[in-house]
Amino acid sequence: MIYFFGMEIAAAKLVIMEFKFKKIPQEFEITEKIKQDNYLINGNLVKWDGEFSSVYSTISSTPEYKPTLLGEIPSLGKDEAIKALDSACNAFDKGKGLWPTMKVVDRINAMESFVEEMKQKRDIVVKLLMWEIGKNHTDSQKEFDRTVDYIYDTIEAYKKIDRDSAKFQKHSGINAHIRRGPLGVVLCLGPYNYPLNETFCLLIPALIMGNTVIFKPAKHGVLLISPLMEAFKKHFPPGVVNILFGRGRVLASPIMESGKVNVLALIGHSSSANSLQESHPKKNRLRLVLGLEAKNPAIILPDADLGLTIQECISGSLSYNGQRCTALKIIYVHDEIRDEFLNRFSKAVDELKYGNPWEDNVKLTPLPEPNKPEYIQSLITDAKQKGAKIVNPKGGIQCENYVFPAILYPVTKDMSVYKEEQFGPVIPIISFKDINEPLDDMAESNYGQQVSIFGKETKKLGPLIDTLVNLVCRVNINSSCQRGPDIYPFTGRKDSAFSTLSVHDALRSFSIRTFVASKDNNENNKIIKDLLSSDNSNFVSTDYIL
Ligand code: G3H
Repeated sequence: MIYFFGMEIAAAKLVIMEFKFKKIPQEFEITEKIKQDNYLINGNLVKWDGEFSSVYSTISSTPEYKPTLLGEIPSLGKDEAIKALDSACNAFDKGKGLWPTMKVVDRINAMESFVEEMKQKRDIVVKLLMWEIGKNHTDSQKEFDRTVDYIYDTIEAYKKIDRDSAKFQKHSGINAHIRRGPLGVVLCLGPYNYPLNETFCLLIPALIMGNTVIFKPAKHGVLLISPLMEAFKKHFPPGVVNILFGRGRVLASPIMESGKVNVLALIGHSSSANSLQESHPKKNRLRLVLGLEAKNPAIILPDADLGLTIQECISGSLSYNGQRCTALKIIYVHDEIRDEFLNRFSKAVDELKYGNPWEDNVKLTPLPEPNKPEYIQSLITDAKQKGAKIVNPKGGIQCENYVFPAILYPVTKDMSVYKEEQFGPVIPIISFKDINEPLDDMAESNYGQQVSIFGKETKKLGPLIDTLVNLVCRVNINSSCQRGPDIYPFTGRKDSAFSTLSVHDALRSFSIRTFVASKDNNENNKIIKDLLSSDNSNFVSTDYIL
């Protein structure tokens, strides 16, 4: 067994210390603070003159470390939450509202004009993504562009759904016109790691299907919504989009307790999802669209191509510092190749560059949650106390806003890092002799999103795949786990998800099949014909949108 731990601590410390404060490029400097002094209710940007809370970045703007003040957001309370709820209910207006009854083509037009205006805000949103959540420049740009693509893809997918339903069916003497209709009021809560993309992957399909929405931005990644407020106000009818700022518990709880919410759309932790759904008094009214935590394993078989496996395990466990629900959060490596894997993996991890998000080729960036370095360190300490070692020399070296990724081996089931979703730069490793060891652990786990399996021999892979597909919802062969492409179903078992998200599935998740039926006789058929040739109903229509 080759351990580097303890060999070169002094030298290793230098490496993170090597991170010298470099002048921030002018285009990314914070020149003025953003004061978000309004919130969107009933089509109005309502000025807030109550309490505000400061938004800080854990990135320092000075050589001596100091969090950077980025701006302020309103600390809204229960009254504003209930006003936003009323606004969304009024806009749905018991099914009579302008938005839920609007022609599909008109909702699409509104969405298209919104996304056109959103595209103008790319630079500022990308800059705020870097400062607010520490995502590197390339990934921040990707997050923005991917979100814009998602909106266009959603529009196309909705056109297809609409085209497919632009027809009548006849069975047992009954004519039916079946389409998908909105569910009502949606409460939408997104996560800090993809504060734009994942939030919009809920918000956009919810809106386009005719629902009305109350949306609270994530805790980190909140100011980046400010540049989009005007566009939300301008392109959607009053009350269709309501945006609140403040603490989730203060705002979301009274909204749920009202019993008026039809869909809870949340990407975050299952504990928040559980407590919010429990506070809803009418359980059967509430539909859940949830993307929750995961502990995706990598399983490395003896014949795996180690070069490729290491590369995929690096991106899988450390892209955006491991702060992805799809990240590889535990690695099972076969005994036969354990030493070589640990040796090479450790070297590759230690070569990753740490720095501020705008620096060239930077892979590891500051953690946006101020208490995260301590939490990661506590996982490391707990694992070490229970017998694990840090395999890589730089592992666990800490500065004000970062902990260098620590590879921990051997990890056992009594360690917190085995049980908890670390959502940060620490990589637990377990070795196995019998494939049933990782399979049993997966079956026992509370999570069931994805797995990555590394190996070549199809005789071994085949039966393994047949079992793994029953434990998780995506089996990645020789590649790390990921959500995309967004056309594929993104879901999970157990505490990992509820409902399926993909461009197409999200449209289904935020709608319900509803139809008009009539007995096949002359009188009824004349009514249907008249409806089709007039503008009297937006629902009864066989118009095509190309
Ligand atoms: O945090 C969970 C995200 O859905 C992961 O998406 O695999 O594209 O990073 P990603």
